[in-house]
Parts: sequence; C-alpha cells; structure tokens
Amino acid sequence: HKRIGILTSGGDCAGLNPVIRAVVRRAVRGYNWEVLGICRSTLGLMADPPEVLHLAVDDIDRLLTMGGTILGTTNKGDPFAFPMPDGSLRDRSEDIIAGYHKLGLDALIGIGGDGSLAILRRICQQGNLNLVGIPKTIDNDVAITERSIGFDTAVNIATEALDRLHFTAASHNRVMILEVMGRDAGHIALNAGIAGGANIILIPEIPYSLDNVCAKIRERQAKGKHFCVVIISEAVCDQEGELIQYTDRFGQCRFGGVGEYLAEKIAVATGAETRVTVLGHIQRGGIPSPLDRLVASAFGVAAVDLIANEQYDKVVTWQNRQVVPIPISEAIGQYGAVNPQGTLIKTARGLSICLGD
Ligand code: F6P
Repeated sequence: HKRIGILTSGGDCAGLNPVIRAVVRRAVRGYNWEVLGICRSTLGLMADPPEVLHLAVDDIDRLLTMGGTILGTTNKGDPFAFPMPDGSLRDRSEDIIAGYHKLGLDALIGIGGDGSLAILRRICQQGNLNLVGIPKTIDNDVAITERSIGFDTAVNIATEALDRLHFTAASHNRVMILEVMGRDAGHIALNAGIAGGANIILIPEIPYSLDNVCAKIRERQAKGKHFCVVIISEAVCDQEGELIQYTDRFGQCRFGGVGEYLAEKIAVATGAETRVTVLGHIQRGGIPSPLDRLVASAFGVAAVDLIANEQYDKVVTWQNRQVVPIPISEAIGQYGAVNPQGTLIKTARGLSICLGD
C-alpha cells in the first residue's frame, strides 16, 4: 500500500485534469493506493496543516473533459526565495519537505513545465523525497519530449481563431493579425499557422523583415486578394531586434503587443486596413483536445507505474509513439525552440507561406 501526492504547478493548461483522473484511476483502482491532491502547487505543502483533497474514484468522474486543474496552481513564489508578507524573501523549501512528511507520502507526482519541474526536483533531492514528473506546457518548448500536455489544445484554439479570422478578413479586405502565446518559442504560431492556412507566420526563431512581410501583402493585392491573415508569436521582436514588453499593473514584465506594433507598420507601409486579435489565456482554458486527453492519460498511468516500480527522479516523455521515462536531470534545461531547418518550416515554405525572412 502506498499514499501518493499529486500537484499541478506553473501556468495551467488544458489536460491537467485528465492527468489527475488517470493517476487516480491507476493508483486507486489498479493498486489500491491512496491519492492526495495537493492544492495550489507547493503552496499546499507549505501550509500547516497541508491543504489537500482526498481523491477517490468517484471524485474524478468528469475530469477527462474539464479544462484547468481542480487542484489549483501557481506560477508565482519561488519556494527558495518566497515573498513574505513583510516584503522579505525566505527559503521555504524545508516547509514543503515537512508538508510531504506530515501527509505521510511515499511519493509525489509533479505536473509542471521546465521551471517548476526543476524547482520540485531541487526540493525533493534536498529532502530525499520520491518524485516523478509529468511535462506540461502549451509552449511545447521542452526538447526531450515530442508532446507536452496542453500544446495540442492551444494549437486547436489558435487554428480555430485563424479559421474565423479568414472570413472576416475576406469580407472587409483587411489584414488580420493574430498574436499567440508560446513564451520564447514559436511552436503554437507555426503549427496553428500551417493548420489554419495563415498567409504569413512570424516566429522568434526566424528573424523577419517588414519589407518582406509587406511585399507578401502587396503580392496578394496584385493577385486581387485584398485580405491577409497573419499569425505572430508574442516573443517576436520589433525591427530593431528588441522584444516588445511592458510592465503590468502588478509590476511584472510581460511580453505582448507585437501584434499592434506590426499592424501599425503594415498599415503605414501598404495602406491596408489592419486589425489585431490577442488570443491570450483562451489558449490555456477550455475543453482538452482528444490528443491532450490521450497524452495526459498515458503520462498519468506511466507515472503511477514508475512509482509502483520505485523508479523515482524520473519524468515521463513522449518519444517515437511511446511513453519513455528519463531522469529528470536529463530533461530540465533542455530548451526546444522551433528548428529553422525542420519539417514544419520546410512545409510552410513549400506552401509559399511567408515567414518574413
Ligand atoms: O508558459 C505558458 C504561458 O501561457 C506563455 O505562453 C505565456 O507567455 C505565459 O505563460 C503567460 O503567463 P501568465 O499566466 O503569468 O499570464
């Protein structure tokens, strides 16, 4: 008999609830273990008493189709430099280790992106705790896995947005620009851009020139196509090579605004009427796509099986149609940008989609 904990950390995405479901099904039904859902990532372990949900098979009925995470999550507050009410920063890693022991856990499943898995691993190493990681990120920028939970749903949503923008672009003869997430990587823009038939795809991995972008718009105009659909990643730079960032009302530095920047430049250079849609967190919410449900289910089952075999300090990855566990140390810090020589870039070029270079 084992008692395991599960937590979701970092930004949410579609597919987290299906992982929780798979873990509970495999652990409770398959092994007759107990599963404690830890609330709000490591904050739930820091709390005294720890904040948990006892997860039984009856509690997970509808999780397969639910967006978000019933456990809650956070991407704020590094436990090693945790912001205290008095404004100071404190190392709270020992409180998290204490929470694990108070709950009597035999192992912990952490679902997170690169940053949160690195933090969780550091804590678990420090406390000699048993950890298995599951990768999630809509940005798909973890090199070691071909799939990360949340990416497919985000691409579906961005693709649907392009489908919709095509009609209104054509009706008004406008240049419609869709700004999508992805942090430093252009995977969402590239994948959705091809799937959604964008005329221009701009990603951070391929420097663009405004002249090339405007030439593509004029070329279409010359053929009698007076509209254009553009998809652009949030981390694309301006013409001076600077990232477009702003400080939000909480004092945090954020990407964003490159869509508006480009819309202004295109309007001035081509005379086209431009409009911008910033898709934002819509890409993270909503019903998980079938593929995300599938990957989440496979990862959840495999993570529990790793614990059954006492294989810790591993993260499950997707490689060549298989779930492959690898040491967490080999996965973290392996950043996976779009390969400028890769198949999808060749595909986009083969389709005469303008990449701005
Ligand atoms: O990493 C996921 C992501 O959605 C990025 O694509 C985006 O830049 C960022 O998180 C947004 O973060 P927040 O949830 O803090 O707005």
